[in-house]
Amino acid sequence: MKVLGIETSCDECSAAIVEDGHTILSNVIATQIELHKPYEGVVPELASRLHTEWISQVVQSALDRAQLLSKDIDAVAVTNRPGLLGSLLVGLSFAKGYSASLQVPFITIDHIRAHLFASQIEAPLAYPYLGVLVAGGHPVLCKVLDYDEIEVLGTAIDDAIGEAFDKVAKHYGMGYPGGVAIDNLAKKGNPLAFLFPGPTLKEKHRIYDISYSGLKTAAINQLDMFWDQSSEKSLENIAASFQRTAVNMLVKRIRLALQETGLKRISAGGGVAANSYLRSELKKFEEGGYEVSFPSLKLCTDNGAMIAALAYQYLKDGKRSEYSESASARVTAFKKKQST
Ligand code: KG4
Ligand code: ZN
Repeated sequence: MKVLGIETSCDECSAAIVEDGHTILSNVIATQIELHKPYEGVVPELASRLHTEWISQVVQSALDRAQLLSKDIDAVAVTNRPGLLGSLLVGLSFAKGYSASLQVPFITIDHIRAHLFASQIEAPLAYPYLGVLVAGGHPVLCKVLDYDEIEVLGTAIDDAIGEAFDKVAKHYGMGYPGGVAIDNLAKKGNPLAFLFPGPTLKEKHRIYDISYSGLKTAAINQLDMFWDQSSEKSLENIAASFQRTAVNMLVKRIRLALQETGLKRISAGGGVAANSYLRSELKKFEEGGYEVSFPSLKLCTDNGAMIAALAYQYLKDGKRSEYSESASARVTAFKKKQST
């Protein structure tokens, strides 16, 4: 089964064709990064306008690269939540029209579930596993019991990890997008140059929830105050110290979650899963006998392949969506587990 997956939830206009859930025949990602760069962040109106202009061509490129014709497509899948509403609607409307014209099944996909599934495309991991979703917004630490069964252990209570990376980078003019800029600068910096406070785990029932706003504020204000006096002041040192603290905060909760749940496998997904320090820290869990899986770099950030691959799982179980289905900017209400 060849599934066309369309993803337009934010600033990547992407279409991919994946065969039987695992063979990526094409994965075209037309990024809008350069066009949002002057504003140092994604401008929602600009994003949806660009998706409208690009979507037909991106889908055609996906067909061309896979050396297929539209009649070879067996189903059309599209992200319908969460994300920027205008951007989601462009992909959703296109996908509905495309599937109706081809008279093939249509299915909507949750972006968060797709990020959590992405590592499965190239290196299938047995269920259950600890899903570490580290994207621009709404990260979750969760127990993934099946492709459709997710139990949330912890969420970001204020800034998501990706937002914290982006805001710190923006403040210091490190580059855009911020996560990539910090990752690159950090390679030349001293991670122990600045010791930022990591918040303590206070309430027992919210032990896996994570707050990045304190770290972000410390990385911005604390350093601004001492900027002239510090001998360690350099963008490389700030990047390395911030990245070390941000990742270690997450790793601490991952360790706790593994202990409490008894899970033996870990899979990370989302843009920040491309971070080299996070990848190396998670790899270390292998020494303790855990199985660790990441998507390749191209499958960490937003892409159509993860949408098509997850869609295949639903389709083979006979699931379909109605054309009446709409888009939503909001995160799906996943089942939330309270730790004991
Ligand atoms: O998954 P994604 O493309 O979009 C959302 O679903 O939100 O993630 C985007 C986030 C941005 O915050 C970006 O700065 C971050 O992923 N990111 C990184 C790296 N590459 C992308 N953060 C840290 N290190 C990276 N190498
Ligand atoms: Zn994403």
